[in-house]
Amino acid sequence: MRGFRHFGMMFFCLLVFMGSTEAQLQMGFYSSSCPNAERIVQDYVNRHIHNAPSLAATILRMHFHDCFVRGCDASVLLNTTSSNNQTEKVATPNLTLRGFDFIDKVKSLLEAACPAVVSCADIVALVARDAVVATGGPFWRVPTGRRDGTISRSSEALNNIPPPTSNFTNLQRLFANQGLDLKDLVLLSGAHTIGISHCSSFSNRLYNFTGVGDQDPALDSEYAANLKARKCRSLNDNTTIVEMDPGSFRTFDLSYYRHLLKRRGLFQSDSALTTNSTTLSFVNQLLQGPLQNFFAEFANSMEKMGRINVKTGTTGEIRKHCAVVNS
Ligand code: HEM
Repeated sequence: MRGFRHFGMMFFCLLVFMGSTEAQLQMGFYSSSCPNAERIVQDYVNRHIHNAPSLAATILRMHFHDCFVRGCDASVLLNTTSSNNQTEKVATPNLTLRGFDFIDKVKSLLEAACPAVVSCADIVALVARDAVVATGGPFWRVPTGRRDGTISRSSEALNNIPPPTSNFTNLQRLFANQGLDLKDLVLLSGAHTIGISHCSSFSNRLYNFTGVGDQDPALDSEYAANLKARKCRSLNDNTTIVEMDPGSFRTFDLSYYRHLLKRRGLFQSDSALTTNSTTLSFVNQLLQGPLQNFFAEFANSMEKMGRINVKTGTTGEIRKHCAVVNS
């Protein structure tokens, strides 16, 4: 009996030990392996983002699209190299992403400083944060140590990235699949305070909502009329772009949420946030609080999103080029 208890104790200690050695993200992961890594990223962003401030929005969206498919592992950056494996990059939601060359440039600077040390997944997470901060948005913590994935499938992007036609149930399900709750859904949707959309992402709401040439009754009719007259002139317009938060699409502020309450959220997924009492009350709470409160809460949800299913320790790899797996 004593021998059995002794064995049990040792087994328990082993489990605790294994748990504690499991690699995790940590602040300043590169502080000894590449001490200037985070500085190099930040300097490059600060020097170049002002030439193209719209990159802050698209790279923030890139980080989201990366994390929702196989975790934050830079799988969104991989090029399709054979006809029998279409990667995430060519899936419909990712066709409007930009900024891949910006990520490649940062990667080349880091490879010059510390070859094969800094992952593309960490670069996306750091650039997204630094670009948002450089354009006046919130700061959030980016613990590092993510490693890069080797698999990328277009079909998985379609299954996991919420489409703009999502209703509340769909959004709740897709966020819950990633371990994110309704508060995260409301806060992270607040990223639509910056950036643009193509007409094609919402023109069904203007021209053919139920298939009989009608308009979405949940969209403010004056706003819809304006969009039709000045911007999205037909159902099939897939080139014109529209500010998602008209009047302040370059400023990270609360006006996205104000638009939601006026039924002026651009996507069905935006307006869906006002169809559920829990998310509606989060929206109201954010609007009643100061901007700093939104920034702090957004930061918490971004840090949470940045931890989704990360590969650490010995899983995955450190890609040499962000668009291709190592040979
Ligand atoms: C809740 C579900 C979401 C849906 C359905 C959704 C959908 C979309 C769509 C359709 C666009 C416009 C794409 C285009 O036509 O060019 C867009 C843009 C954008 N999204 Fe989302 N999104 C969601 C959540 C998020 C989250 C969680 C983030 C980041 C944390 C985010 C950040 C952005 C940004 C910054 C843009 C502007 C991109 C640019 O200016 O190029 N979105 N989103």
